[in-house]
Amino acid sequence: MLKPQSIIILILPALWILFRPCSAGAGPYMNSVHGSNTVGVNRSSIAAEGYARGNCAHCHEQHASINGSEPSPSGSFPCAFALFANNFTGGTTGSYIKSDDFCFFCHINVGAVQSEGGITNRQYANTFGGYTTDSATDILGAFNLNSYHNLYDIRRFARTKFSFFKDLSNPCVACHNPHLVKRNKTNPSNPAYAVISRPSDHGNLWGDDTNERMDKYTTYRSPRFYGSNSTYEPGGVTIRDGSLTPDYVTFCLDCHQYQVPTTQSASMNPNTPSGYLTAIDWSSSGDMHGQRTRNFGINGEGSESYTCRGTVIAPYNTSPVASNYVLSCLDCHEPHGSILTTSSRPSTYLLRKEINNHRVDGCGNGEQYFCERDGLCYSCHTNNHAGPQGCFGCHYHGARDVNCGGPRSGPDF
Ligand code: HEC
Ligand code: HEC
Ligand code: HEC
Ligand code: HEC
Ligand code: HEC
Ligand code: HEC
Ligand code: HEC
Repeated sequence: MLKPQSIIILILPALWILFRPCSAGAGPYMNSVHGSNTVGVNRSSIAAEGYARGNCAHCHEQHASINGSEPSPSGSFPCAFALFANNFTGGTTGSYIKSDDFCFFCHINVGAVQSEGGITNRQYANTFGGYTTDSATDILGAFNLNSYHNLYDIRRFARTKFSFFKDLSNPCVACHNPHLVKRNKTNPSNPAYAVISRPSDHGNLWGDDTNERMDKYTTYRSPRFYGSNSTYEPGGVTIRDGSLTPDYVTFCLDCHQYQVPTTQSASMNPNTPSGYLTAIDWSSSGDMHGQRTRNFGINGEGSESYTCRGTVIAPYNTSPVASNYVLSCLDCHEPHGSILTTSSRPSTYLLRKEINNHRVDGCGNGEQYFCERDGLCYSCHTNNHAGPQGCFGCHYHGARDVNCGGPRSGPDF
């Protein structure tokens, strides 16, 4: 394992060569939002020293001092990759504070080192789904919600699977390349402004090319935009075939095709070993929300002899009805964290607060409630069985043969 100091020795010469042309040169970094000369990085402590907006030095420090003193923030330097702060020092679980992760120094509402102050980043369901109530307005806040993508676990897993990912790499960097990211939030209906990179292809953005979108599964249908029965995600468009939505299935499955280790929630799946999450199978032999064909008609046709029945509602039941819809992971999940809840369940599994023009609440009346039935499943279904909660007891990723007082065997999710 390389010590932080030796990494800096390896990297500094590369930085030295790259830093100088970076303020004048073109290339992918200059097209990224961080490299932008209008909205890009601009750390107030060195902007004052004449560094142009977008300069690499707003994140990387070639020298520990500028004009004889160390620019803010100061602390336990030098840091890995010659960054101005430690890349990641968070513990095995949240809650996180600003100094736990390099990115939080700017992606925080209050106390950012960026000259304009804090950066607002809303939840996926708000930016792309149009939901109006914020459960978080910065990235630190999203990771501090009840259910969150545990950064320690992400880093631990990425180290074992992806060769670009170094021992001292940042867990955010497993999903984002800070030298390439664009600004999707101000162009939510245009996936050319991509912010993610597949961990198996860190050197490229994901979703910006037309063959990296959800319409590659020919039966994707976009959920409805909040407050509207005629427009769809992302961002309230009329087109609904997934051609404007990145292929999040391929992205998430770079990691979730495996049983990933977790320090936090227990798996719903009785067949998954403790300390791991269920490997997600979206293929034609996996879940029905994925490429496996559903058992019954859209209005439950064919299920008449079973105890447990239900339907799939709009927009999925509107013409032309597909025989096998394939959903995006982010139709149901948030990427960072989710749901302020008073629920006593062990986890809300990064599930969205708003799904398909429907607020996920119920089992109580208000933003802080979260109910499996009324809130979550009824965003897209009706059903005739089980009480107000307990749907996850039989319907979860990979569920098979979970009976319901009837003879049917087979997949249940
Ligand atoms: C020195 C400040 C700074 C640091 C550190 C920083 N960012 Fe940013 N980031 C910005 C600014 C400024 C923008 C553009 C402003 C905006 O979008 O409001 C931005 C935009 C982004 C965007 C595009 C979405 C958006 O908000 O417009 C992503 C994604 C992003 N940053 C990820 C990261 C990640 C991941 C890290 C850590 C590896 C990181 N940033 C570290 C300043 C920073
Ligand atoms: C928004 C902050 C930010 C800006 C701006 C930025 N970098 Fe980085 N850079 C990082 C982070 C974070 C890492 C560490 C990546 C990791 O955790 O694996 C890094 C890593 C690197 C590395 C190590 C190799 C790699 O890609 O992992 C090099 C070389 C580098 N940066 C060069 C540059 C140059 C040159 C520029 C300007 C053209 C630049 N960086 C601008 C945040 C930034
Ligand atoms: C497991 C993968 C993953 C991890 C880990 C992750 N992100 Fe993200 N992030 C995403 C996805 C997916 C999106 C939404 C993508 C889109 O806009 O297409 C996103 C969106 C963003 C955005 C843009 C939000 C907006 O305003 O639209 C920022 C900024 C960001 N992430 C920063 C971070 C930071 C900082 C970290 C680490 C603390 C982090 N991310 C960790 C997957 C991840
Ligand atoms: C870089 C690898 C990686 C990627 C990419 C990734 N995840 Fe994860 N995910 C993990 C790890 C590791 C855990 C276990 C830590 C934890 O439980 O938070 C996890 C946990 C989860 C959990 C359970 C959270 C809980 O409450 O314990 C959900 C849900 C999830 N991921 C969904 C997604 C979705 C949706 C995407 C795509 C937007 C995605 N993941 C992309 C690595 C990844
Ligand atoms: C129809 C909504 C829906 C979609 C689409 C969806 N999920 Fe989930 N996901 C859930 C629900 C509900 C749970 C909680 C029950 C469970 O654990 O399976 C969950 C839980 C999880 C977990 C924790 C599993 C465990 O061990 O308990 C992971 C990981 C996960 N989802 C990843 C994904 C990924 C990756 C995708 C896309 C390929 C995806 N999800 C698509 C609804 C969805
Ligand atoms: C974003 C919308 C959405 C959400 C949320 C959702 N589903 Fe679905 N579900 C669908 C669609 C669309 C299908 C049809 C898939 C196909 O055509 O293969 C489906 C299929 C199913 C099926 C298989 C139906 C059959 O005919 O065999 C079951 C069972 C199911 N869902 C249960 C649930 C449960 C339980 C929940 C809550 C935990 C849930 N779903 C949440 C959209 C959703
Ligand atoms: C005791 C186990 C059990 C519980 C608890 C349960 N279900 Fe089911 N459910 C089943 C079985 C078995 C089926 C038969 C069809 C299948 O699995 O596709 C079914 C069918 C369905 C369907 C029919 C799908 C279609 O399109 O035909 C929906 C929708 C559904 N359940 C939703 C729910 C919701 C919502 C809850 C919680 C309120 C719930 N279920 C609780 C076992 C259960």
